[in-house]
Amino acid sequence: MNPARRPMIAGNWKMNAGGADGCDLATGVARVAAEHDSVDVLVAPPYTALAAVSHALSEDKSDLAVAAQNMHFEEAGAYTGEVSASMLKVAGASWVILGHSERRQLFGETDELVAQKMTAAFGAGLAPIVCIGELLEEREAGQTLAVVTRQLKAVLDELGGNPGLGVVAYEPVWAIGTGKVASPEDAQEVHAHIRGLLSEASADLGRDTRILYGGSMKGTNAEGLLGQADIDGGLIGGASLKADGFGKIIEVASKLAQQEKKD
Ligand code: 13P
Repeated sequence: MNPARRPMIAGNWKMNAGGADGCDLATGVARVAAEHDSVDVLVAPPYTALAAVSHALSEDKSDLAVAAQNMHFEEAGAYTGEVSASMLKVAGASWVILGHSERRQLFGETDELVAQKMTAAFGAGLAPIVCIGELLEEREAGQTLAVVTRQLKAVLDELGGNPGLGVVAYEPVWAIGTGKVASPEDAQEVHAHIRGLLSEASADLGRDTRILYGGSMKGTNAEGLLGQADIDGGLIGGASLKADGFGKIIEVASKLAQQEKKD
């Protein structure tokens, strides 16, 4: 297995578990993750719980990584209600989710804005997880590959001299929170296309970038998806809110990684 593409299982808590419940959830996840060291596990609490979750994890001597769900691209200034990349770092985040479809759809984020945020994240030493994915009407119109190409090219064009892209998450919007998971074959087709675009940009990017799948992943459907050649992990919403359910996905990823080592 390419060590740069160790499986990653990331929990996006969205607007949930923003207080002491977040610390309990994170330490519960850390207990499961500690038993599966071939998987990188990451949790993304809301802003209000970032510092407390990071603190609880370091008290537990856990190496679970913490991500923010969004950020502003400016470093500081008159941007009421916003949070910058360096502030997230101070709160203990090492990753940041950018361009989630809920940000794009509900808060009007554009491809250009996502690219701007990615540059600011790199500047502050935060690793981005850049989300891309098509709407249901785009899939039905046969535009899936064109949409993800447009979204990915916008960030690739901004990469400049950066050696890596961080992580890409393919999240078909129609599969998010709907229980309608993409079939492993459909997801793999899009992941292979994304890897092709990364390889066109640079051979290293194509070889080493992890591409996560997101959209109604849970313990019972994770194996088919995570077993695909170009699916390197999952970005999980609803099923990341209970440590045992999220733990099941970590266990599946770990089992597949062990099998791959033996093959
Ligand atoms: P669900 O797992 O709830 O479908 O959410 C996926 C997601 O949006 C993760 O970022």
